[in-house]
Amino acid sequence: MPSEITAEAPSNIALIKYWGAEDLGAVVPCNPSLSMTLDRCRSVCSASFFEGDRRPDEILLERDGALAPAPESFSRRIAAHLVRLRTAWNRQGTLRIATRNTFPAEAGIASSASGFTALTLAVSRALGIELAPAELSNWSRRSGSGSASRSAFGGYVQWPAPGTADAASAAPVADAEHWPLCDLVAIVSSSSKEVSSLEGHQRAATSPYFRRRLELVPGRLDTVREAIAGRDFARLADAVDEEAIDLHLIMMSSRPPIFYWRPATVAVLAEVRRLRREGLAVCATMDAGPNVHVLCEPQCAADAEAALRRVEGVEEVLADRTGTGPVWRQGAEL
Ligand code: PMV
Repeated sequence: MPSEITAEAPSNIALIKYWGAEDLGAVVPCNPSLSMTLDRCRSVCSASFFEGDRRPDEILLERDGALAPAPESFSRRIAAHLVRLRTAWNRQGTLRIATRNTFPAEAGIASSASGFTALTLAVSRALGIELAPAELSNWSRRSGSGSASRSAFGGYVQWPAPGTADAASAAPVADAEHWPLCDLVAIVSSSSKEVSSLEGHQRAATSPYFRRRLELVPGRLDTVREAIAGRDFARLADAVDEEAIDLHLIMMSSRPPIFYWRPATVAVLAEVRRLRREGLAVCATMDAGPNVHVLCEPQCAADAEAALRRVEGVEEVLADRTGTGPVWRQGAEL
């Protein structure tokens, strides 16, 4: 009988971004980052471990409601992580992995953070290894997706600056109940990104503005932390808006440059500014893609969502909010 576990892990949206690595292989970032864990956007992963078995691993991904072998690029990264985990814990045997995302694949939302955390949790438990949350964060990060370090916790989560004693894993700053916020994801393009975040991390240091960004991030991070502690949305909004533009400034000025924005991205940003001028407390951030995460307090969400749906080029608005950390249970559900 195989040992079978299903794990669920949340995605997260960075308020202060990880962009640029001191060591991409070891996933050591150039700067600290801080994110809000999401609630609806999660990855579910079932792992079955056949101890002593010598068959090749099986890696399946759910698409259009059916499980099928995962695409080459995706399964290569997963396979490497499986080897890493089995070697670390000295276990021999075959793994069957099946995974799905609770958010539509066409939403263009990165699933590597939630996916690798769910995978790491399911595999560790199937192998009989009990990881503390900080260890889960550390092992998930080693998959190559640094943002996965932050998906090991709920609420607001910081991945500290490199060189500090605790930089190997992320740590919670405040839990989800402390300050529930809404994240309205304005989908303006569902096609997969042309430049991966791994490639982006490599190019970051070629921007002539990158060094300056690294000087500014610690102060901005302190502002975000203080805003979260005091539930001060106006303070948070200024820092989050500034950080998102700063990130894309680095991308656009890298060599060769990376342009993730589409015309509708700019239209959504303009609408967010208009809403703020009209007194609605909203702010906007973007990751390595054209879709805009519009953050607001729950009482503003209905008005903000209606306004975003009216912007030309917005295909869909996905309403999410601050969420809790990963969970696991016995059995293979997928
Ligand atoms: O974790 P990665 O390697 O996919 O990089 C994440 C990059 C951003 O999403 C743009 C920023 C972040 O901190 O999540």
